[in-house]
Amino acid sequence: MPAKWLKDAVFYEIYPQSFKDTNADGIGDLNGIVEKLDYIQSLGCNALWINPCYDSPFRDAGYDVRDYKKVAARYGTNEDLYRLFDEAHRRGIRVLLDLVPGHTSEEHAWFRASQSADQPNAYTNRYIWTNNWFCGSRGLNYIAGEAERASAYIVNFFKCQPALNYGFNRVEEPWQLPMDHPDCVATREAMKDVMRFWLSHGCDGFRVDMANSLVKYDDENKSGTSAIWKNVRAMLDEEFPEAALVAEWSCPSQALRAGYDMDFCLNNDDTGYSTLMRDYQGGGEDDSYFRKDAPARDINRFLKVYTRWYEDTKDLGYISLLTCNHDTVRPRFSLDIDELKLAYAFLFTMPGVPFLYYGDEIGMRYLDLPTKEGGYQRTGSRTPMQWDGSKNLGFSAGEAASLYLPVDPAADAPTVAAQEGDPDSLLNFTRKLLALRHAHADLQADAPFAVVSAEPNAPFVWRRGKLLLAVNPFGQARTVKCPAAGMTPVFTHGAAKVNADGIELGPQSFIVLE
Ligand code: NOJ
Repeated sequence: MPAKWLKDAVFYEIYPQSFKDTNADGIGDLNGIVEKLDYIQSLGCNALWINPCYDSPFRDAGYDVRDYKKVAARYGTNEDLYRLFDEAHRRGIRVLLDLVPGHTSEEHAWFRASQSADQPNAYTNRYIWTNNWFCGSRGLNYIAGEAERASAYIVNFFKCQPALNYGFNRVEEPWQLPMDHPDCVATREAMKDVMRFWLSHGCDGFRVDMANSLVKYDDENKSGTSAIWKNVRAMLDEEFPEAALVAEWSCPSQALRAGYDMDFCLNNDDTGYSTLMRDYQGGGEDDSYFRKDAPARDINRFLKVYTRWYEDTKDLGYISLLTCNHDTVRPRFSLDIDELKLAYAFLFTMPGVPFLYYGDEIGMRYLDLPTKEGGYQRTGSRTPMQWDGSKNLGFSAGEAASLYLPVDPAADAPTVAAQEGDPDSLLNFTRKLLALRHAHADLQADAPFAVVSAEPNAPFVWRRGKLLLAVNPFGQARTVKCPAAGMTPVFTHGAAKVNADGIELGPQSFIVLE
């Protein structure tokens, strides 16, 4: 069963490079996160996911880990991170770190030993080496010509990220080790050791990078990779029963059965997420459900996958919807502020555990920027948090040229300070939604969900426990027939009211009825 504290959890994702710089070097740091914990608490977020903050050459923004147990100097020290855990806990905020179990940096000590001419050694099989200096294998990317040993190695993502060896579910060639090979089991144990290290220093769990791809040539059900996570879960249940895990898997039916508490619904085309808020690829008409003037909106394009997952996993754990993340475009890319309010009303009242990406609460823009640290098109969603109208929009006292990435140059760049005093701002609307969620157990992770009305090109009406919710994304009023008679509003945005056969919804409105 998922950790109990997740029932009312709302996560805030922090890309540490870009959140708050306290030493004027142009890069965010852990002390900056500590400084802003009161702000995060004021939003109604009670949990954090911090992207990798470990020692790294930063060729993939820290997803290329050089030392799993050491904080990168640019962010501070391990002691700073322990203090962050303490300060967060004092405010009732839990902290998940990002675990990158599938690969390391090519500069990790394990890889240095594994690739050396001095063979065999304790790390010979920590990575996946092929049988000669120039060969790969079906479906696996390999790098030749880089290592001292006369062999090529398999990578998981970029060239700088050699894949750790958890074995093959189906062995096709002699160099492919089976999952139960002692050297593959040793890789799993080494990753458990990393988890124990941070959990025993106060971390509350992990977001797990590429959680579904540890074992190679796995079967359709990912039974090999799942067996590893079940083993990890057994360790957590025994040693850290409150620890939470959220998977980057985007298949809750598999991830939650493998022992995860939560799995992200990512904006892959096949999840339908990008039909709520469009992603980079979207050519043609923008039919995002929350666009005021979408030519052909249909919430079913999202629900057809979501409800199947929900029905299959509601007793096992949670699906996590997100505003966006460091890999996707910001929702402001396709939605304006009024549209974002409705999208957030939906995301933060659905079941499961929601995630808010830093800056989305003020509607930060996706910027068109050259790549930074392997970001490529993701770079535009990773710009510094915009706090106020001061130098560098309050992110850093350093010189503009030293910033990790530039801040939004627009004259109307949204900032926290500008939105604080405006009761209608996106910031304050987000706060109201999260306060509503915390005030009603029926809006939290566990409360039942059912679709009430989901016609194509129409508002969406759904039930959470004893509450009835409706959203009208259209720029015109719409009426929906549904059993709402006698119910009273607990939250209204725009003009919306109950009539004899249903709900009258004004343009771009949202209502929650009890
Ligand atoms: C997924 C992470 O979210 C992404 O940022 C990273 O580049 C890849 N995994 C590789 O670790």
